[in-house]
Amino acid sequence: MNVLLTGGAGFIGSACLVEMLKRDWHVAVIDNFESTLYERERKESNLEWARSHGEFAFYEDDIRDREAVRRIYADHNIDVVLHLAAVAGVRPSIELAPHYFDINVTGTSVLLEEGRAAGVSKFALASSSSVYGGNTKVPFAEHDPVEEPVSPYAASKLALEILARTHVHLHGGDVTCLRFFTVYGPRQRPEMAIHKFMRIIDNEETIPMYGDGSTGRDYTFIDDIVQGVMLSIENLDGYNVYNLGGDKVVLLRELIQTISDVVGKPANIEQLPMQPGDVPLTNADLTKSRSELGYAPETSIRGGVEKMWEWFQKA
Ligand SMILES: NC(=O)c1ccc[n+]([C@@H]2O[C@H](COP(=O)([O-])OP(=O)(O)OC[C@H]3O[C@@H](n4cnc5c(N)ncnc54)[C@H](O)[C@@H]3O)[C@@H](O)[C@H]2O)c1
Repeated sequence: MNVLLTGGAGFIGSACLVEMLKRDWHVAVIDNFESTLYERERKESNLEWARSHGEFAFYEDDIRDREAVRRIYADHNIDVVLHLAAVAGVRPSIELAPHYFDINVTGTSVLLEEGRAAGVSKFALASSSSVYGGNTKVPFAEHDPVEEPVSPYAASKLALEILARTHVHLHGGDVTCLRFFTVYGPRQRPEMAIHKFMRIIDNEETIPMYGDGSTGRDYTFIDDIVQGVMLSIENLDGYNVYNLGGDKVVLLRELIQTISDVVGKPANIEQLPMQPGDVPLTNADLTKSRSELGYAPETSIRGGVEKMWEWFQKA
């Protein structure tokens, strides 16, 4: 299998890359080490980790660069694209909306269009649970209305899904959008909650907790996400949307307590108001991804935080 992997130097991308190398897939990676959220060094070290599992082609290019993308398609006889490159993160998107749209929407359009020109018709695209916005009906199912995203990031992922659906309508092909629910584990982005809280608790500093700790997230361990991504690539069939969640909602105060227990130090907390763009709850309905993909997340929050702590101490 020849795969074009975008965002392969990132958190989820490097874990998917390792799994693909274990399967002896031929992988071409495109990543420009975009630095809105975190620094290049961490991404280079993700690639180093992947290189210890096998060889792959790497292009330090921007997915919005049509010439570069065209060249990669031409050089690798691509069967399927796993598109993870994006600027992620809800809060920074509020100040940087055009930047988010440029990369997350225009970049996706370039990949789809240049892929079509190269005869590539199979794509798995990273969407996000944030498209559900302030949805109050739980759990969130793929057929729920998603017209009310509450951040530019969420709006950009919804636009990606609409673009993908339009692409299949016009040109056919198999395009799946994957709604990831807060992913954590080794190599997690440093600004994300679990990584940040682990660092703060370990350094005996104070955690800024937005809200009263009663917000809930469906946290998904990275190995479970990789399992779901691989299953989705094996089951591409027309236009589809799938939730990939962890199958359990964890409240913020429970999460902080779990991290504190695993690290073995107390958590000092400063309570602050909820932030604009935040949603009170995410909770994935996995009925569709279980029945159509065979997706079955296995990692408990305690087990996942323990594995992440093992990595954290060596990183
Ligand atoms: N981590 C999560 O909890 C989560 C949840 C929902 C959705 N997602 C989505 O999953 C995907 C991967 O997320 P992640 O947490 O691994 O983020 P990440 O920032 O670690 O990885 C994204 C990668 O894309 C690269 N990139 C960004 N812009 C690019 C461009 N213009 N050209 C080429 N490469 C570019 C970055 O350099 C980075 O290495 C993203 O699409 C994100 O929106 C992540």
